[in-house]
Amino acid sequence: MREITENILHILIHELKDPLTIIRGYSELLKDNNNSPEEIAQFSNIISDQADYASYLLNNISTFNKLQDNIPIFLCPTEINLKEVTDPIINIYECKNSKVKWTNKIDEEITVFTDPSILKIILFNLIRNASKYTKEGLVTIDAKVLKDEILWIIEDTGIGIDNDKLIHITELYYRANKEFPGSGIGLYLVSQISQKANIELTIESEINKGTKITLRFKKNNLKDNKK
Ligand SMILES: Nc1ncnc2c1ncn2[C@@H]1O[C@H](COP(=O)(O)OP(=O)(O)OP(=O)(O)O)[C@@H](O)[C@H]1O
Ligand SMILES: [Mg+2]
Repeated sequence: MREITENILHILIHELKDPLTIIRGYSELLKDNNNSPEEIAQFSNIISDQADYASYLLNNISTFNKLQDNIPIFLCPTEINLKEVTDPIINIYECKNSKVKWTNKIDEEITVFTDPSILKIILFNLIRNASKYTKEGLVTIDAKVLKDEILWIIEDTGIGIDNDKLIHITELYYRANKEFPGSGIGLYLVSQISQKANIELTIESEINKGTKITLRFKKNNLKDNKK
């Protein structure tokens, strides 16, 4: 337990250094009166990107700590519209890279019953991964209503994951590709929280082809997930 806390602290300190240094650097640049409007827009975007990353890290680590301390996290389960909760998260990422085309096919009627802030953490991690690991291509998000379950699916045409690495992908600190920055906490957190919420997580991937992640919300359990 103590070892885990020390590791997380180490990762937090290490990972927060970059965004803070970049925010500081670009804030200094913004003070220059000779900046063109394009430069001002570019520097401001970089600052807000990095601030988003810092807040993503802090959110993940705060949820991680709650899990470690067995603090209940499903405090206010409620009926949530899947498209409404997905759209704003996509908006954050779709303007970051013009070489990636985002499509949200989720039908406007589809709802699930769970804790909204926890669902946001799950979706945020999955959407962020699709964005980070797709340099060029497509990210498609969809939802399907089946007889006993509701599926939320995110599919990307990004770098994919090697078959032998795929089985480790939800382990704490595991990172299949170290070229990209990251803490290796995201999918561990997603898999732990999903289990607690009776959401089944499936990850399929093929190297250099892409990754498909499915969340299965069981209809029977939808109103019985207050853990
Ligand atoms: N959509 C994806 N495409 C390709 N690889 C992925 C995808 N999602 C996850 N991975 C791989 O799985 C690993 C674990 O993902 P996870 O989200 O837990 O960590 P991370 O993205 O490295 O860091 P962070 O905790 O900051 O999210 C990643 O390092 C990456 O190698
Ligand atoms: Mg991640």
